[in-house]
Amino acid sequence: MKGVLFDLDGVIADTAVFHFAAWRKLVRDHFRAELPDELEEKTKGVSREDSLKVILDYLQLSVSDEEFAALAAEKNEAYVETLEDLKPAHILPGIADLISDFKQAGLKLGLASASKNGPIILDKLGLADAFDAIADPAKVAQGKPAPDIFLAAAAALNLQPADCVGLEDSVAGVTAINAAGMVSIGIGGAELAHASERFESTSDLSYPAIEAAWQANR
Ligand code: BG6
Ligand code: MG
Repeated sequence: MKGVLFDLDGVIADTAVFHFAAWRKLVRDHFRAELPDELEEKTKGVSREDSLKVILDYLQLSVSDEEFAALAAEKNEAYVETLEDLKPAHILPGIADLISDFKQAGLKLGLASASKNGPIILDKLGLADAFDAIADPAKVAQGKPAPDIFLAAAAALNLQPADCVGLEDSVAGVTAINAAGMVSIGIGGAELAHASERFESTSDLSYPAIEAAWQANR
């Protein structure tokens, strides 16, 4: 194991809930409809545009390209507003120690998030310098569940996929890591049964446990 590729929302910080809250607000304001809880998993890990497609599909609505772009922009504004007070205290339990243990061991760290807000969030969390590479989701051909962003992060670290582990909290993200030919660590419930190894919460993660998972599944 030479590198660890982190998802951001729901792995490093508890921002996944803010994404769905912003979608809910948008749908209430524009369509007077409520999104059911089940839709949250379907929008997790997938790009802003793909999330909006999932939501419009659910509502059985079709909109013009202009309206689509305006809705995506409005969701992002609402989401970014909720990030205003984000600070290092919002790093999920165990993650700060995990990052420093990996760094001490000389592992390379990459960010493989679908979010275009990744750099701002890392900055607010005080983690801007913790990562050796941040893969740019705007520059990959296909979003999660395709492997592109994980492959881009490994390439930016000069590592082979087989030498990397990916950490994810979403169904689409675990699928992406597996498709990249990496060992996948799922953080969450039974929906992540396709992960090489699954942990219930970030506080269950440790460098030895992840190294052991890589050894067992490589
Ligand atoms: C992922 C989230 O990390 O980023 C998704 O899990 C979100 O819910 C995606 O849609 C894109 O984020 P952003 O910040 O670019 O809209
Ligand atoms: Mg996530």
